[in-house]
Amino acid sequence: MYRLTERNRSIGEMFSSIAPRYDFLNRLLSLGADRRWRRLAVAETIPSTGGRFLDVATGTADMALEILRQKGPGASVAGVDLSMEMMRVGREKCARTGQRRRVAFFRAPGESLPFRDGAFDSACVAFGIRNVIDRERGLREMCRVVRRGGRLVVLEFSTPPGAVFGPLYRFYFRSVLPRIGGIFSRGSAYAYLPESVLAFPDPSAFGEMMRAAGCASVTRRSLTFGIVTLYVGVR
Ligand SMILES: C[S@@+](CC[C@H](N)C(=O)[O-])C[C@H]1O[C@@H](n2cnc3c(N)ncnc32)[C@H](O)[C@@H]1O
Repeated sequence: MYRLTERNRSIGEMFSSIAPRYDFLNRLLSLGADRRWRRLAVAETIPSTGGRFLDVATGTADMALEILRQKGPGASVAGVDLSMEMMRVGREKCARTGQRRRVAFFRAPGESLPFRDGAFDSACVAFGIRNVIDRERGLREMCRVVRRGGRLVVLEFSTPPGAVFGPLYRFYFRSVLPRIGGIFSRGSAYAYLPESVLAFPDPSAFGEMMRAAGCASVTRRSLTFGIVTLYVGVR
């Protein structure tokens, strides 16, 4: 049994407050790259067509919809999130694209997933594991609900290395991005984003966490100069 903490609640509320503008700001602040990142992540899940997929921290369902696009009519997705508002936007998007029946939404924390062991062929989490307060527990839960031989795919921001691009990126992330985000949304969500990314473990340490949580092997790939890292664990 997992009890939601104050921090869980405040993160969920923060995402609820930006839900109507979340997709617009994602496209703007990533200059459209977020779509490509999700495409690459979904391409790492199995099976290649059909299958049962879990999308943790599904938010406005962009990953869920990408899964359905790539995996075809035999695929189904369970989307889990703490924010009803984010999932409301996601549900509407699924309905608009005729996919409403193929995505089931659940309000639950990533730290305690309401599914039986081995229920899914693959589980993914895009830009969400950073927000899961008990990260080890969240990763163990994702491993638990994926069948043996299945995949656990994680897409998360990372801090790019390098003497030139690294500092430039940190400047954009700490000073420019929160201002642009602040223009379009009230509250502290776009100040929280750089804080949480800079506090996230480096890619090799996070890969180790996935292994410790139950992945037999973990590979990782750096995307867009290391702004984002794609981790693929085999269960
Ligand atoms: C940055 S958004 C990512 C949404 C989506 N995966 C995407 O690719 O755009 C993070 C999401 O994580 C959700 N979240 C935060 N903490 C969570 C937790 N402990 N369990 C499940 N979802 C959580 C938030 O409500 C929010 O919708």
